[in-house]
Amino acid sequence: MCGIVGAIAERNVTAILIEGLKRLEYRGYDSAGVAVYTDQGLERCRRTGKVAELASALDAHPLLGKVGIAHTRWATHGAPSEDNAHPHFSNNELGVVHNGIIENYQELREELKAQGYIFTSQTDTETIVHLLHSLRKQHDSLLTTLQAAVRKLEGAYGLAVIEACNPKRILAARSGSPLVIGLGIGENFLASDPLALRQVTDRFIYLEEGDIAEIEREQVQIYDANFTPINRETVQYLDNAESADKGEYRHFMLKEIYEQPKVVQRTLEDRLAKDHVLASSFGADAETLFQHVQNIQIVACGTSYHAGMVARYWIESLTNTPCQVEVASEFRYRHVAIQPNTLFISISQSGETADTLAALRNTKDKGYLASLAICNIGTSSLVRESDLVLLTRAGPEIGVASTKAFTTQLVGLLLFTLALGRAQGRLNTQTEKEAVAALRLLPSKLNDALSMSAQIERTCEFFAEKQHTLFLGRGEQYPVAMEGALKLKEISYIHAEAYPAGELKHGPLALVDSEMPVVAVAPSNELLEKLKSNLQEVRARGGELLVFADRAAHFEDSADTHVIHMPSIHELLEPMLYTIPLQLLSYYVAVLRGTDVDQPRNLAKSVTVE
Ligand code: G6P
Repeated sequence: MCGIVGAIAERNVTAILIEGLKRLEYRGYDSAGVAVYTDQGLERCRRTGKVAELASALDAHPLLGKVGIAHTRWATHGAPSEDNAHPHFSNNELGVVHNGIIENYQELREELKAQGYIFTSQTDTETIVHLLHSLRKQHDSLLTTLQAAVRKLEGAYGLAVIEACNPKRILAARSGSPLVIGLGIGENFLASDPLALRQVTDRFIYLEEGDIAEIEREQVQIYDANFTPINRETVQYLDNAESADKGEYRHFMLKEIYEQPKVVQRTLEDRLAKDHVLASSFGADAETLFQHVQNIQIVACGTSYHAGMVARYWIESLTNTPCQVEVASEFRYRHVAIQPNTLFISISQSGETADTLAALRNTKDKGYLASLAICNIGTSSLVRESDLVLLTRAGPEIGVASTKAFTTQLVGLLLFTLALGRAQGRLNTQTEKEAVAALRLLPSKLNDALSMSAQIERTCEFFAEKQHTLFLGRGEQYPVAMEGALKLKEISYIHAEAYPAGELKHGPLALVDSEMPVVAVAPSNELLEKLKSNLQEVRARGGELLVFADRAAHFEDSADTHVIHMPSIHELLEPMLYTIPLQLLSYYVAVLRGTDVDQPRNLAKSVTVE
């Protein structure tokens, strides 16, 4: 959730660093700092609050230098204070900025204290800088020192180091937290996100897992995880993919649908260790707190509510923790019988939805164990007022119909489930390993689903003239079907209802005829055979089916059934994958019907009133 910027040039770099930090503020911030090598040696300036606070402090007392590193922080270990703000120094000889979480920092801290190092912050990052300082004595160069230091670090990091005795280079290391080098002419840069450097360059080299880089003014040398020198590809960006314009896309909604692999990747960054989820991604005390959770109450509205409904299946099946999910507008006015040790989870794209916020506020002093917000906006009220937070990092979502916010919420909720189960000791280790490995592959699976777009577009004529549609799913595909129906009604104005397929015969079957298409979400899981029987009931009434299924489900096209074959994926990730074609389906139907896709009638993006 933090941001890193670094620069080495023939000119003063402070303004470049500050501009970079401003561009990273979307990731959340509570303090910021820069360290520059000036003619006085290593100097730094740190402030709590926004980057603007830091910028005015630097206006009053400028720091001028040709090499520097900078950071915006979102507190995990230690409160948002100036002492805890980066860069952290060791003996005024080394300066470090760091994103991610060092899991073994307590151990290292004790060892370093025993060596006489004095800690001035509560951060895990200060451990890194003292560790480097301690190892530096045994090494000729900062490079070999850093190589030795990363061997001792457990957890996730993207970090940058400068040293006073050799201010001609910045060293960087990446493991689990992204870093990108920006290439200039006679100057080079570093950042956790290329967005931070777009004002100075359009050429970038992404560091890969385990890479260490030595960045000088005229050259960059990268070493892989085995410390072997390696060349990494340079990419050139011609435009800013995340700016608030539609770019090559006809609508924001389509652009946001296509951004999903990238933003899901970003949601995962810093949060996965080799084979488990880092509980501290939810806050420094999260792991201890999760051990005490006996019940979960999820509250949200609209699309975010559907994400919560999916999460209940994961939470109860993987951690055996009872979980309730409710829409905020009901929950806030209901007398709720609170179970012991209940964790209250709110889910929201905006973090400002009035009902969700009121529900959170109502929980105060009612005996809940703690509150956790799964939210896209770091500065929102929901985030500020919750004890624990996971930012979904979907970036700005402009289309009123939520798309990338939903899939990143699902990722956040699965990360939560895995972290909870691990903390409680209830998660099967093999399941955990497989889920983490599958999560790493999710962005590429979502790309596969997006590549089916043309095929989905062709099926839309089937819907364009219809007035009603039914969406069916079972298990965690039921809320996916609900989200599919919501998308279709929001932007195409076709009446769409979702049902758990087993309920079909208890009413909605009476509506089925050739004028009411039925969409089924049907991956091959243990409920498939049950679902197939439900679909037979539709066929027997003359209904037409559109089925999304993988090949192992063995559905074939026929006169009354159109099948879209989906890529196969780990069962836990089916909700994310099957959401993509449903989003595309509503989008293309709405385009065909000529509605206002990005701003559908009567709706608002952020509902801040009751
Ligand atoms: C509005 C939006 C929906 C969104 C819902 C909840 O209805 O149109 O897309 O799902 O609010 O918003 P939130 O920001 O709390 O997720």
